[in-house]
Amino acid sequence: MSAIASTAARHADTELDRLLAELAAYRSCDPPRLSLPPRAFTSPELYELERTRVFGRSWMLVAHRDELASPGDYVSLTIAGEPVVVTRDEDGALHAMSPVCRHRLMPLVEPGHGRADDFTCPYHLWKYRLDGRLKGATFMKGNPDFDPAACRLPGFAVEEWQGLVYVNLDAGAPSLASRLAPAAEELAPFRMDEMVQVVTVEEEWRVNWKLTLENGYENYHVMGFHPETLDPFMPGRGDMELHPIDGGALWARMPFAATLPRGAVPLPREHRANATVMLTFPTGGLITFGDQITWLSFIPLSIDRTQVRGGVLMPPALLDGLDPQEVAEEQTAAATAVNEEDRIGLEAVQRAVGSRFAGRGHLSPKEPGVLLFYRALAEALVPEETPGRA
Ligand code: FES
Ligand SMILES: [Fe+2]
Repeated sequence: MSAIASTAARHADTELDRLLAELAAYRSCDPPRLSLPPRAFTSPELYELERTRVFGRSWMLVAHRDELASPGDYVSLTIAGEPVVVTRDEDGALHAMSPVCRHRLMPLVEPGHGRADDFTCPYHLWKYRLDGRLKGATFMKGNPDFDPAACRLPGFAVEEWQGLVYVNLDAGAPSLASRLAPAAEELAPFRMDEMVQVVTVEEEWRVNWKLTLENGYENYHVMGFHPETLDPFMPGRGDMELHPIDGGALWARMPFAATLPRGAVPLPREHRANATVMLTFPTGGLITFGDQITWLSFIPLSIDRTQVRGGVLMPPALLDGLDPQEVAEEQTAAATAVNEEDRIGLEAVQRAVGSRFAGRGHLSPKEPGVLLFYRALAEALVPEETPGRA
């Protein structure tokens, strides 16, 4: 290594160490009530660490069951640069796997969604089944070292919870459902498991993924970003009553003042007067709007680009007698309006994170959720506490 390269490498280590030490402080029972260091949004070394320590082992919300309703349905995406495809096979089982051809690395399917009987590699036409097993490999009989039965796409863990589909790149990860039991209890009156997805949201925002999540863990910004769309019936001044679950997940309630004209699901008073939010670290979230639910997941594409996947869920009874097309258009307009406000605001923040004069800001008492997010981030990134820090 040249002298310049080794000096640069030492500098990077020092900077990453400094960032991790600052993050580790959020694990304390008296964490700094400060926003993240701006370098947390721009450091390539930190992003590399996030790829392994956060996204390599977390349950990621990626889809709703309705996007994978029939055999052959698939959803293809990348999770922090790692290609993933989720499929429904002929027997109705869900699978998640790496869609990178085992021959010479060709992606078997582009990001998006669709339906397929199998995946044929566009390069030399090897074919894979919906569960990842090899179905056939052209002109391979003459290679005695090649065992088709042993050739399959690496599988990931996949789990459906209340209709939401989660993937974990760590195939041996412990199940998610038991961890989310407290949230399931809170959400039980909504009968989410019976809901249907009337709108699918797919957007790309030019932001670091952590900016989207900080924003999702508080309602303080509703006053600024959503004065006309959300604030009139979900006021940012209202308190968010937090119920943390371990591992950075939480459910929360906040005041909800809209009247529910249709009321397809009989909700108890506290659920009519409040919106329930559920967040699962690192990127998944949902919010109830009366008897319908919007879910969103902010999945990093790179250090400064985030894919937003989500959907609007409704009870089937709410759709009785309505034109599905009209419902979809109305709901798309509502979801898009709020998302646009967040996107425009957060992309502006992203443009400022590299400022030489940017610093850490003091947090409001209205941002305890942000500290929970920082704590979960610190627990994932700094498994051992840094010496000298509580
Ligand atoms: S890279 Fe897929 S068949 Fe060759
Ligand atoms: Fe928002």
